[in-house]
Amino acid sequence: MASKTEENTHESCEKESSELWSEPLSQRKENELRLLTFEEAEKLQNDRDLVSEFKQLKLEREAQKNWDLFYKRNSTNFFKDRHWTTREFEELKACRETEQQRLIILEAGCGVGNCLFPLLEEDPSLFVYACDFSPRAVDFVKQNPSYNAETCKAFQCDLTKDDLTGNIPANSVDVSTLIFVLSAVHPDKMHLVLQNIHKVLKPGACVLFRDYGLYDHAMLRFKPGSKLGENFYVRQDGTRSFFFTKDYLQCLFKNTGFEEMSNEYVLRETVNKKEDLCVPRVFIQSKFCKPNKQC
Ligand SMILES: C[S@@+](CC[C@H](N)C(=O)[O-])C[C@H]1O[C@@H](n2cnc3c(N)ncnc32)[C@H](O)[C@@H]1O
Repeated sequence: MASKTEENTHESCEKESSELWSEPLSQRKENELRLLTFEEAEKLQNDRDLVSEFKQLKLEREAQKNWDLFYKRNSTNFFKDRHWTTREFEELKACRETEQQRLIILEAGCGVGNCLFPLLEEDPSLFVYACDFSPRAVDFVKQNPSYNAETCKAFQCDLTKDDLTGNIPANSVDVSTLIFVLSAVHPDKMHLVLQNIHKVLKPGACVLFRDYGLYDHAMLRFKPGSKLGENFYVRQDGTRSFFFTKDYLQCLFKNTGFEEMSNEYVLRETVNKKEDLCVPRVFIQSKFCKPNKQC
């Protein structure tokens, strides 16, 4: 279980994960950015000093190690199962050409499988490719009692450098999820992840995306000395987090050959019952597709 200190520093999929937090008070989708209070705006404005280049290069070199250590400390206990994806998949299943068609899914950056196992439970006829660059996370997936090689293939892969076609036939995947993964990748390399996924998607297939949005509570909690660049921060455990705007994400996907289907902020308030605190969460939830015909 994550220790209190880790909870304070590793905000990750942000207490969508921790039992400390109750159900959201509200969840609404918005077109506009969250408005900051005066104090919040001032805090972000004053936080100008960036982590040294030397340390930034080290963090990049050790990104995989830092995530692997994260799973060593937390094993499978940190992130909560993500059931919103099953709602999305209902929509996708309805688009199947025939009832018998087996949907092929890629969970890119699967962690310990919090998205893939709920999906497989609901529909054992799916086939899921699941990859992550933490060898420990991949082992946890394979050790899960619900793991079955007939319905799932888990493998280790750095999405910024290892060609997915080494494990997945090109143009074969019906839908890929990318959930709280791109924020962990250096902004200069995000396009490489999308290009990699693009290759294995069927024409017309989508990426379902969910990640941190600009001005999420987690962004405002970073202490001075954590800033790596614009909207990019490092946690105490060395894992990094980027906070997306809709425009940034749209550009990134469009420049790698995707078409936008939807792209929205999800604004929530979550309550920490123990501390009697209500905090604003900002996520971004989007769907981008590989066009049917390449121009
Ligand atoms: C916040 S976790 C989310 C895990 C999972 N998608 C979920 O929703 O529970 C981010 C994951 O991205 C993985 N990751 C980060 N950079 C990666 C890369 N370059 N290639 C593959 N996986 C990466 C990490 O190992 C970690 O498991």
